[in-house]
Amino acid sequence: MAGRLLAVSDLHVGYPDNRAYADALSPADPGDWLIVAGDVGETFADVGFVLASLANRFAKVIWTPGNHELWTLPSDQVPLRGVARYEAYLKLCRRFGVITPEDEYPVWDGPGGPVTVAPVFTLYDYSFAADGTAAASAADPVASVLAAIDGTVGDSGRSAALAAARQAGIKPVDEGRLHADPYPSPAAWCQDRIGATEKRLAAVDGPLILVSHWPLLREPTAALRHQAFAPWCGTTLTAGWHTRYPVRAAVYGHLHIPRTTQHDGVRFEEVSVGYPREWQHRGTAPPPPRVILGG
Ligand SMILES: [Fe+2]
Repeated sequence: MAGRLLAVSDLHVGYPDNRAYADALSPADPGDWLIVAGDVGETFADVGFVLASLANRFAKVIWTPGNHELWTLPSDQVPLRGVARYEAYLKLCRRFGVITPEDEYPVWDGPGGPVTVAPVFTLYDYSFAADGTAAASAADPVASVLAAIDGTVGDSGRSAALAAARQAGIKPVDEGRLHADPYPSPAAWCQDRIGATEKRLAAVDGPLILVSHWPLLREPTAALRHQAFAPWCGTTLTAGWHTRYPVRAAVYGHLHIPRTTQHDGVRFEEVSVGYPREWQHRGTAPPPPRVILGG
C-alpha cells in the first residue's frame, strides 16, 4: 500500500475561507488517510457535510471530537447536548464510514507501518490550571468562598479556573455552550473517558499514533498567550500516556499553535488550521495537512 498518513484539526468551517480550504482538501495518492483531530465546526450539519465529503475523497478518514463539535448553539437544528450529541456524531460517522474513538482502531499498513491509529476522546477536567491559579483565586475573596463551597458540593477545579479566567479578563468559550449531560460536569465525563480509553490502549499491540483534540501534556499550553485558558485544554490524567504506551507520534490540535515538538523522545504534532485571523497572520493560506507517516 502506498500513500501517506495525514493529519489536520481545527478546520472551523463556519468561516467561509476555512470551508473553502476543507472543501479543497484532496489526496495526492489514492491510498492517503486523513486524521481530523476535532473542531471541524460548530453545527451538526457543518460537521456532517465536511466529514462525509472528506470520507468520499480519502481512503480513510479518522475523526475525534473537539470542544466545538460538542457545543449546543441555539441556532443549531440539532439541539442535542452532551453524550447524546456525541452519539449522534457516531451515528453520522458510521453512516459515512468515518472512524471514531468508539471503533476498532485501524492499522496503517502504508509507508512507516504497520502502526495502529488510535483516535481518543479525552475532554478536560480543569487540572491544567496554570501556576498561579490558586493564588489568583485566593486574591479574590468571593472566588475563594465559591471555591470552598464548590470543593464540598461540586466542581472545585472549574470554580478556581473560572475565577482565574475572570481575573485575567478572558471568557472561556466552552462555558454555557459545551454541556456534559447526563454527567454533572465535563470533568466527570472526562474521568469516565480516561478510564475506558486506558483499557483500550493497553490492549493494543505494537506502535501507535495517538490522536486527540486536546494535548496529552500540559507543556504545550505554556505557549498559550492567555495561560488562564489552560484548564480547558486537557487533563493531567493523560500525562503518562505517550511513554506508557508505544506511541510513535501524538497528534493533537485545540491550541491553534501548529508545530512539532518532542517530549520524552516522542514526536508531538499540533496540526491545527485555526481561525482565518490566525493563519492569515502566518501566510496567505493554511498549510496542507501534516504528514505523519509516509511521503
Ligand atoms: Fe479550535
